[in-house]
Amino acid sequence: MRKKIIAGNWKMFKTVNEAVELVNGLKREVSDITAVDVVVCPTFVNLAVVADMLVDNNIKLGAQNLFWENEGAFTGEVSAPMLKAVGVEYVIIGHSERRQYFHETNDTVNKRLKSALKAGLLPIVCVGENLAEREGGKTFDVVKDHITGSLAGLSPEDMGKVVVAYEPVWAIGTGKTATSAQAQEVHKFIRETLTKMFGGAVADGVRIQYGGSVKPENTADLMFQPDIDGALVGGASLKVDSFAAIVKNSIKK
Ligand code: PGA
Repeated sequence: MRKKIIAGNWKMFKTVNEAVELVNGLKREVSDITAVDVVVCPTFVNLAVVADMLVDNNIKLGAQNLFWENEGAFTGEVSAPMLKAVGVEYVIIGHSERRQYFHETNDTVNKRLKSALKAGLLPIVCVGENLAEREGGKTFDVVKDHITGSLAGLSPEDMGKVVVAYEPVWAIGTGKTATSAQAQEVHKFIRETLTKMFGGAVADGVRIQYGGSVKPENTADLMFQPDIDGALVGGASLKVDSFAAIVKNSIKK
């Protein structure tokens, strides 16, 4: 049984005071929940403050990116051991906004992934096609390319620690959600691809999140598909009520 994982990607939102307010609200609403893993991913500058607030709490902490060298003259970058030392458990890698605006490729995603695993972080690796690719019938080609390229060279044991997030770019921040059937179809394809790469036992254990305009209203429909094991939530993770409702709606009653 794969345990669902609901992660809030705060992107470049929330000053420190706003982050504290949001985490206080979430602690009131979802701290007691153990049926699913709940993760919040603030900006780098707010990680230490949020880490302190989450000591001895079920809510887990994630970062949104990292650089693959451990230290050095890389102005503006943050490394995996630095994240680990501050109390981070998860790290989002290769989000489509990083691929689109910051020139990330499968190759740089792969380097980040290996460095995260080496430091003992649990990576959330994002894959997904854009609108032109979907309309051009290239969804499976693009997703296969992202999966094989981003996860290249991983041992089956390391793959067991990775979460994959399928995020169709056309559904991110647009209010356009993939239907549960559209999402399930791609999730199943991802699991088949993982089976070819790492074997069935490993692939069966990998949690595959859906991301792209997840809201309280569409959570249950998406989350109870056979190959969907959680959500990576952007906009709706910025408010206590909507994120708490998504977490609660992802648990089978
Ligand atoms: P969204 O973002 O929920 O605002 O569509 C999802 C994401 O980018 O992870």
